Amino acid sequence: MSTKPSYYITTPIYYVNAAPHLGTAYSTIMADVQARFRRSMGYDVMFLTGMDEHGQKVAEAAEAHGLTPQEWCDSQAPLFHALWEELEISNDDFIRTTEPRQTHAVQYLWERMKEAGYIYKGNYDGWYCVPDETYFTETQVEKADEERGTKGEHLCPDCGRPLQRIQEESWFFKLSAFQDRLLKLYDEHPDFVQPDFRMNEVRTFVAGGLQDLSVSRNNIDWGIPLPFGDGHVTYVWFDALLNYMTAVGYGVDSDEARAELAYRWPAQTHIVGKDIIRFHCVIWPAMLMAIGEALPEHVFAHGFLTVRNEQTGKAEKMSKSRGNAIAPREVIDLMGVEGYRYYFMTDVVPGSDGAISFGRMKQVYNADLANSWGNLVSRSLNMSAKYFDGCAPVKPAAADAFANPLAEVADGLAQRYADKMGAFAFGEAAAEVMELIHAANHYIEDSEPWTLAKDPARADELAFVIYNLLEAIRISAHLLAPFMPSTSAEALRRISCADEAATDDLVAACTWGGLAGGAPVEKGDALFPRLVDEK
Ligand code: MSP
Repeated sequence: MSTKPSYYITTPIYYVNAAPHLGTAYSTIMADVQARFRRSMGYDVMFLTGMDEHGQKVAEAAEAHGLTPQEWCDSQAPLFHALWEELEISNDDFIRTTEPRQTHAVQYLWERMKEAGYIYKGNYDGWYCVPDETYFTETQVEKADEERGTKGEHLCPDCGRPLQRIQEESWFFKLSAFQDRLLKLYDEHPDFVQPDFRMNEVRTFVAGGLQDLSVSRNNIDWGIPLPFGDGHVTYVWFDALLNYMTAVGYGVDSDEARAELAYRWPAQTHIVGKDIIRFHCVIWPAMLMAIGEALPEHVFAHGFLTVRNEQTGKAEKMSKSRGNAIAPREVIDLMGVEGYRYYFMTDVVPGSDGAISFGRMKQVYNADLANSWGNLVSRSLNMSAKYFDGCAPVKPAAADAFANPLAEVADGLAQRYADKMGAFAFGEAAAEVMELIHAANHYIEDSEPWTLAKDPARADELAFVIYNLLEAIRISAHLLAPFMPSTSAEALRRISCADEAATDDLVAACTWGGLAGGAPVEKGDALFPRLVDEK
């Protein structure tokens, strides 16, 4: 086991009812950026993603394709793997809830729940939303229908789609017993749910009273069988939430697994979309309290990527079930994987909803990447190669004689950036880096290296200017790496700093003056070719 501190981060596991789209990729990229950042800060990162393969929704998708649920899931898994690989997702594990390890862990959970006395058998009589895999009571449904003006239609209070009536024997989890403990958790750990405003939502919901939750299904058979031999299968969320512990050894009877669990659990951060906050901030902690396990440290909830509905003119959540999903391919084809990652992570505020606009994507790409970062790299490397015979100038001895505006901007930059990255303020963190990049581009104009190059008496000054530009590039490449790992690695390689890319001490690596100088630089092609037709 590593001596480094563990940082365990997870994405939701995705329903396998259709191929992943921009919305689902959004959660995954967000977790990836945090995982890469944490590795560069010296954490031993465990980054988990995967697929949620049970539940009625997946069974229905399989049927619609004329396949068994297992065949359907097996046919979809390669699509998820291929997309995550293309999007440079650096997950350490990929869990599928149909794997034996999950069946084992879930059945182990049932036994623990029974021992602890937090489950009992009863009859469920109420409503069920298949697309959301969520139960609703008569009162919740009536109230929502009343408020929406759809009285008597029985539409889902959350997503507005038609509900199913379910009446069946079911096992219940005594969620109602956890109200006080949950409220205490929120009071004692106000940052359990992030951003802050989400915490109020969760607290209000719990303060309003909790009802016991139906956690088994008796009239469907696609799910993990209960270990009690009564023909019930596990409710998909009771199964899915446990994946976070399964992947780090929960329920496995070996010293190695116990050591792994002790090192990795509790997770530091679960990334979730705002639609699944209640599952993660109410049901999941209550499940863990019931079986006496530690609670995750933080649940970070992001908003939705939305698409304008042409008929209503309203912004709607992009979703597979609604059929308004945009494929990641469209964005990758437009501006490459790195532009895609940078755009969604820096321009969409992580806590709020963000409307998709291809025009805005092009604008941000051109402004930040083509015209600023890419331009800085290309101009600086060109001049370095031209004036210093294909190399970087060595750090000039007379450096103190000249003002150094870039070193001033870079001073404390990595720490400011790290504080923001750690808090998922990715846009603000990137803006800090952009400040250095803009300063460097202005510095080129102000110092006019082409004029200095004409005057041999100013050779030191020229070396100083070019050295500073390369140093700004080196530091910016490090800081942009969690967003754009390949182009950052490429920029470092071009200035002969490829070895630094795998740093686990980002702040030290970004200390001004780290570039040795004297090594070859390679001009290379534009990192971010400009997009034409910006509308
Ligand atoms: N299977 C459950 C999660 C179980 S976790 C123990 C699930 N799956 S999902 O495929 O429907 O959604 C997975 C994640 O993708 C959620 O966090 C959801 O918020 C996110 N997104 C799905 N559509 C989205 C957008 N349009 N925009 C941003 N994220 C959205 O829920």
